[in-house]
Amino acid sequence: MPAMPTITFIFLEASIEPIPKSIINHPIILKDSKRRKRPPSEILLDDSKHHAAMKDLENCRKRGRPDIIHFCLLSVFDSQLGELSDVYVHTIDGKIIKFSKGLRLPRNYNRFVGLMEQLLKERKIESGGKTLIEIKDYDLKSTLRSIDPSQTLFLTEKGRKIDDLKINVNSRNAILIGAFPHGDFDHKVLEVIKNFNPVYVSLGSKSFTSLYVTNRVICLLEDLFDIT
Ligand SMILES: C[S@@+](CC[C@H](N)C(=O)[O-])C[C@H]1O[C@@H](n2cnc3c(N)ncnc32)[C@H](O)[C@@H]1O
Repeated sequence: MPAMPTITFIFLEASIEPIPKSIINHPIILKDSKRRKRPPSEILLDDSKHHAAMKDLENCRKRGRPDIIHFCLLSVFDSQLGELSDVYVHTIDGKIIKFSKGLRLPRNYNRFVGLMEQLLKERKIESGGKTLIEIKDYDLKSTLRSIDPSQTLFLTEKGRKIDDLKINVNSRNAILIGAFPHGDFDHKVLEVIKNFNPVYVSLGSKSFTSLYVTNRVICLLEDLFDIT
């Protein structure tokens, strides 16, 4: 059985963003802010609560779904790959968040939202002198450059069928999965990825959820490297 190579998961365009300035005075936002006793700038945008205020936002159908990245992260960190892989989240507004290996994330959604709000405010979550989650000072391009992947597996329904998935054990592999609900990748994101030897991998011609795709990739990797 081949040895487990270096794997970095990067979730793309995830909904971890504060309420945008353009809607902070909307009555729904003011009501939520009062209820939560927090200024709107310190509240995570969430379509399930802020839907009426979001309809004039650019790309509103791609935004306000922190539950998607919550599920995907739980899936990675529940698996044994969570101990072995680096995990980054690229947010819809271009931030890069690094999650430490083997992290135990809150399973409760409201607690996850609270943690992400604390992260956006303080830029770091620490425990026992160790940084667990951190907003990095660099963008997607610099992140990929620092990982220097010899193989970038970009999960998209427009890619080649999964039979072609080849993880090169002697290389650094970056696995990219979209973490937004609807629509296409931002063309700027696609442009960046083009510079890092992407292999466009498809699990089928249907558009699947980020959670399903994350779970399939984890299972494939566990089988490939006999991680039980
Ligand atoms: C719900 S999709 C986002 C929807 C969007 N229509 C798209 O084209 O990416 C979530 C993510 O899972 C991955 N994905 C979805 N369907 C896939 C498929 N059939 N094969 C490979 N990856 C897929 C992509 O990375 C995608 O961004």
